[in-house]
Amino acid sequence: MIELRGVHKAFAGRPVLVDLDLRCDRGEVLFIIGTSGVGKSVTIKHLVGLLRVDAGEIWLDGRRIDALPERAFHAIRRRVAMVFQGATLFDSMTLAENVALPLRKHGRMRAAAALADARRRLDEVGLADFVDRYPAELSDGMRKRGAIARALTLDPEVVLFDEPTTGLDPINARRVDRLIRELADRRGVTAIVVSHDLASIFAIADRIAFLYQGGVRACGTPAEIRGSDDPVVQQFIQGRASGPMETPGF
Ligand SMILES: Nc1ncnc2c1ncn2[C@@H]1O[C@H](COP(=O)(O)OP(=O)(O)OP(=O)(O)O)[C@@H](O)[C@H]1O
Ligand SMILES: [Mg+2]
Repeated sequence: MIELRGVHKAFAGRPVLVDLDLRCDRGEVLFIIGTSGVGKSVTIKHLVGLLRVDAGEIWLDGRRIDALPERAFHAIRRRVAMVFQGATLFDSMTLAENVALPLRKHGRMRAAAALADARRRLDEVGLADFVDRYPAELSDGMRKRGAIARALTLDPEVVLFDEPTTGLDPINARRVDRLIRELADRRGVTAIVVSHDLASIFAIADRIAFLYQGGVRACGTPAEIRGSDDPVVQQFIQGRASGPMETPGF
């Protein structure tokens, strides 16, 4: 469904992605993991044209998309939805209005029908009682779930989740996990999930791609990643402060 081939991306001469190869099959839940700043968000932003490759190819459903003009991405963004790392809702609209917006804009649905659909989707993420609140009146975790509901309104074929459970309590985090798994299992949605949440990673991933120094250092099922004999992978998944892994910053 999605393939990145030999992708290079640098910012101001500083390379972030270096010859990155990654594939995600239809209906698969692929997790992208790796230390902060390694390029996880950068990787998925390329899939909806928010960033452009310096070199390499990006394929969506058998079609090469990396060199398409901006207007072609409008159609792609209906099929490939993204839940951004910081929940992004419009402050001047209620939660239900936020979620109804894509339906009105792209689905050309009438206001009442769109709001009814929005309420149903907000119920799915446990926000039925908050549909008429404004984002400022919600907690971070609620806004995050609202952003997830909004990303799903146009029934996308692919959903890119950037840290969907970060900042959520364990119960709501597991609910989001279940929602992602059900999207894949019941609706055949392809999900790419950037996450630091080891509980969700090992609970719902079909495969895990571990990013390190610009490329995919290891990719496999949760069992394969757990059993990896790569000391860098082991240091990361065990969360050890010292080891062979080179991390910028500290
Ligand atoms: N638009 C941009 N302009 C310049 N540099 C950028 C831009 N976007 C990302 N970067 C840089 O690219 C690198 C990777 O960023 P990215 O956001 O992908 O990290 P990440 O793996 O998602 O980290 P985190 O886990 O903290 O979210 C960082 O060094 C960041 O500063
Ligand atoms: Mg990020």
